Amino acid sequence: MTQDQPPRTALVTGSAGFIGFHVAQRLLAQGWRVVGLDALSDYYSVSLKQSRHALLEPDMGFTPVIGRVEDPGRLLDIFATHKPDLVVHLAAQAGVRHSIEQPRDYVEANLIGTFELLEAARTHPPAHMLLASTSSVYGANTQMPYGERDKADSQMSFYAATKKAIEAMAHSYAHLYGLPVTMFRFFTVYGPWGRPDMAPFLFTDAIMNGRPINVFNHGDLRRDFTYIDDLIDGIFGLIDTVPGKNAVSEQDSLSPVAPFRVVNIGNSQPIQLMDFIRAVERACGREAEKIMHPMQAGDVHATWADTGLLTELTGYAPKVDLQTGVQRFVEWYRAYYRF
Ligand SMILES: NC(=O)c1ccc[n+]([C@@H]2O[C@H](COP(=O)([O-])OP(=O)(O)OC[C@H]3O[C@@H](n4cnc5c(N)ncnc54)[C@H](O)[C@@H]3O)[C@@H](O)[C@H]2O)c1
Repeated sequence: MTQDQPPRTALVTGSAGFIGFHVAQRLLAQGWRVVGLDALSDYYSVSLKQSRHALLEPDMGFTPVIGRVEDPGRLLDIFATHKPDLVVHLAAQAGVRHSIEQPRDYVEANLIGTFELLEAARTHPPAHMLLASTSSVYGANTQMPYGERDKADSQMSFYAATKKAIEAMAHSYAHLYGLPVTMFRFFTVYGPWGRPDMAPFLFTDAIMNGRPINVFNHGDLRRDFTYIDDLIDGIFGLIDTVPGKNAVSEQDSLSPVAPFRVVNIGNSQPIQLMDFIRAVERACGREAEKIMHPMQAGDVHATWADTGLLTELTGYAPKVDLQTGVQRFVEWYRAYYRF
């Protein structure tokens, strides 16, 4: 944004979450006004979420709203008051395992919450809405890397099923009401302020506290680990890439009937789980005691993003290699938890 432009307003849902915090931080640094909606749910440490919001709050451009996306009228009020130009919708109940234990959380936060957002957006249509989906929607697909135009109809967890449903819901609103929508499919994001329920945090936390780590499918898993700064670069490239009428190439996932596009944001370099564990061990300076387990229900064997479309649209090129990214995460962990 240039200096003579008035500040534009963005609504970031999930602003106290891992990715939402980083998105809000960069938007504020660029001079946006940010309305940050988050329920501070207790799925993982509420104090970590409060610490993230506390870093955003001193910025005069930041307006925190504590509440649930699915609360009736909540988003209508926000749209009436703030009329956001941009929406980045990251609030969700995430996690594959939890969706087996508490599927209703996913119906409420993901399905009803996104429905309320889409309905509210009709009242004051933003210039662009960007909504989080996941690599998990590729489910049982075995052809790698995963491309946005591949059929993705075999979800393996209820979490993934709700995200696939959100994609379809958003497509219908983009078509019916002309709302420009970009759906992100994120691939295993890690880095400072990362999520305590995900492997990078779980491994680091266990190693630092002298506990064994749990290794699923006996270590035979591959993930396309994406460093947070690379992911944020991808998101910011897409903010200015509003889906219109014309596809950029044959690879484009642009809908034939709506301003709607799905875009992978990954690293495009799948890492073997045991190599990831070695990187964490190196960064922590200690070897982990490993307890081997079979595959977890709902999990997939490998993820690998084809990021060709993102590169074509935005010039995206991930910069942070695995060891550097893991090192930065462990440094943050040590500073935050005073190790
Ligand atoms: N981190 C990843 O690797 C990854 C991968 C694929 C997709 N995603 C998706 O990206 C988005 C952000 O993920 P994240 O890693 O930052 O997760 P996160 O859990 O750290 O952030 C989500 C935030 O949403 C909030 N929230 C949850 N339910 C809510 C509700 N009903 N109303 C309002 N706020 C609510 C939570 O309190 C949390 O702060 C999610 O939609 C997630 O499904 C993340």
